Amino acid sequence: MIDTHTHLEFPDFIDEVDDVIQRAQDAGVEKMICVGGEPPRNLIDVEMANKYPFIYAAIGIHPNYANSNSPEHEEWIVNTLPERKVVAVGEIGLDFFYNYSLFDTQREVFRKYLSFAKEVDKPVIIHSRDSFTDTYDILKEFAPLNGVVHCFSYSLAEAEAFLSLGLHISFCGQITFKKCEELRDVAKEIPLDKLLLETDCPFLSPVPKRGKRNEPANVKYIAEKHAELRDISFEELDRATTENAVRLFGLE
Ligand code: NI
Repeated sequence: MIDTHTHLEFPDFIDEVDDVIQRAQDAGVEKMICVGGEPPRNLIDVEMANKYPFIYAAIGIHPNYANSNSPEHEEWIVNTLPERKVVAVGEIGLDFFYNYSLFDTQREVFRKYLSFAKEVDKPVIIHSRDSFTDTYDILKEFAPLNGVVHCFSYSLAEAEAFLSLGLHISFCGQITFKKCEELRDVAKEIPLDKLLLETDCPFLSPVPKRGKRNEPANVKYIAEKHAELRDISFEELDRATTENAVRLFGLE
C-alpha cells in the first residue's frame, strides 16, 4: 500500500516519527507522501523525503494558509520542485468552509501554484471543501491535469467532473464512518485506475481507530473498505492503487 497523503511533519508526530514509520511498514505500507501546505511544514517534508528512501514530499500552500504565501517562498518552491524526491505540488486548492484566508487570496495562490506544477510537469494534490464550482473552474483553466482531489467530499457528478479533467480521487477515513453512506456510494463508482489510498493523518482516523490520532498504518482499514465496497480482494485493491500512485507520482 501507498499512503499518498500523510502529514508526518505535524507536531503530533515529532517525537515518534520512527515508531510511526515502523508501524506503517509492519502494516504493509511501502511508501508514503508527506504533504505540506505552509512554508515551515514544506521545509520539514522535503527534509523527511531526503532522509527516508520510502518517503516523498509534496510542497504547496493549503488554502487555509494562503496568507502564509510570499514571494520568497514562491522562489523556494520553484527552486525546490525539480528535486527528485519532491513529487507533487500540494496541497493546494480552495476551502470556503473555513475563511481563514480571503477567498480572493485563495484563488490567486491556487492559480499560481497550479502554474508552478505545470512548469515542471508534476502532479497536484487538491484540497477542495465547500468550493466545488470555483475549484472546478480554476482547474479547468489548467486542464488536462495530473493529480488527485484528496479527502473527496462531494457527489458522484462532481467526482465525474474532476475525473474528466484527468484527475484521480482519494477518500479519507470518512468512508468507514457509519453516517457516510453517500460517500461510500461515490467511492465504489470511481474507476479503479483513478483511485488512490490516503490517511490524511493525523486527522480523520478510520473505524476502528476513530477518535484517536490517525497514522499511516491505518490506511489498511481504508483499503479494506474500498475492497469490500467493490467486492474485490484486498490484494487486487492494493495492487491497483499502488500502481496508480507509482504512475501518477513517478515513484521508484
Ligand atoms: Ni491534508
